[in-house]
Amino acid sequence: MINNSNSALDEKEGTVYKELTEKSDDIDISLRPQSLDEYIGQEDIKKELSIFILGAKKRKESLDHVLFYGPPGLGKTTLANVIAHEMDSDIKTTNGSSLVRTGDLAAILSSLSPGDVLFIDEIHRMPIVVQEVLYSAMEDFSLSIIVGKGAEARTLTLPLPPFTLIGATTDAGSLSAPLRDRFGIVFRLQYYSPEELLKIINRTSRALKFPITIDAAYQIALRGRGTPRIANRLFRRVRDFATYEGKSIIDKESTQAAMKFLAIDELGLDETDRKILECLIYRYNGKPVGLNAIASAIGEGVENISDVYEPYLVQIGMINRTPKGRIATKAAYDHLSIPYTERQD
Ligand SMILES: Nc1ncnc2c1ncn2[C@@H]1O[C@H](COP(=O)(O)OP(=O)(O)OP(=O)(O)O)[C@@H](O)[C@H]1O
Ligand SMILES: [Mg+2]
Repeated sequence: MINNSNSALDEKEGTVYKELTEKSDDIDISLRPQSLDEYIGQEDIKKELSIFILGAKKRKESLDHVLFYGPPGLGKTTLANVIAHEMDSDIKTTNGSSLVRTGDLAAILSSLSPGDVLFIDEIHRMPIVVQEVLYSAMEDFSLSIIVGKGAEARTLTLPLPPFTLIGATTDAGSLSAPLRDRFGIVFRLQYYSPEELLKIINRTSRALKFPITIDAAYQIALRGRGTPRIANRLFRRVRDFATYEGKSIIDKESTQAAMKFLAIDELGLDETDRKILECLIYRYNGKPVGLNAIASAIGEGVENISDVYEPYLVQIGMINRTPKGRIATKAAYDHLSIPYTERQD
């Protein structure tokens, strides 16, 4: 199924397209990679993980507890599932925000079977008292719970089967130190390079059976903010455009039209990014500004700015974090075509 009617494709693009299209016909892949081999990027993490997993399997032990942290959409949940798959383990998934009382966590822990993986997403959202239940569970595979109240209160200790706790958080700083220290393996996920995102987009194109030219894929990769979730989301929006235009392949033209429509610029910055930068530059005149002030000035949630927007703007050198607050860098002025004058204070 090769669409030769698209004259916009030059020979090189046509070649790659053919290759991608042919693969899409005979390989059935799901969007979420299942194994370490399928997982694209995070090479250092994969290398270390494969060594630790091999060691644990050889010793017939459960893998040490693992903590993943980093901005949203970089693949923490995916990696947790990959680990369970590689360990041939069952995975039970829960979220820190739903573990409100110690009993909630105790119920889950006591339902584990030997070798299971327990994945707690947004682990920083667990209240401290609930986190404390994890201390002995992680360290000694035992569950200590207090039953009764006042003078009647006593501690009940139950043995737990060996298991692997995998925690994920966008904010490792808000985990209590005793909990953080009980993870034997701690990984910070890095933003992906455009080349890695390109591979992910090609993989998504095959999984969704909607071909894309190499230069369209690269345009999306450059705007994907180093984040697979965003790159995949952009892919789907661009696919909508191509479909609307009656095309059976995503090309550069559909991609450019979609980006223009979504007001996403060549660095992948959207309306909110630009509002943040303009707020720093115009409203606060280039002075350092606190997160709360930025959030209320542009009408965004503080968490959304601190977890999603700011880390990427810092990563690409548009914002500097100073002890006094955030400031826009010269690169931000240049990007927005605003004349830059260095502040003296
Ligand atoms: N290395 C990768 N290769 C291919 N796809 C990936 C990769 N990493 C992540 N993805 C895809 O990106 C999306 C987001 O990944 P995931 O849900 O694992 O991120 P996360 O770090 O858990 O995000 P959050 O912090 O919001 O929970 C998923 O659809 C996943 O399939
Ligand atoms: Mg997740």
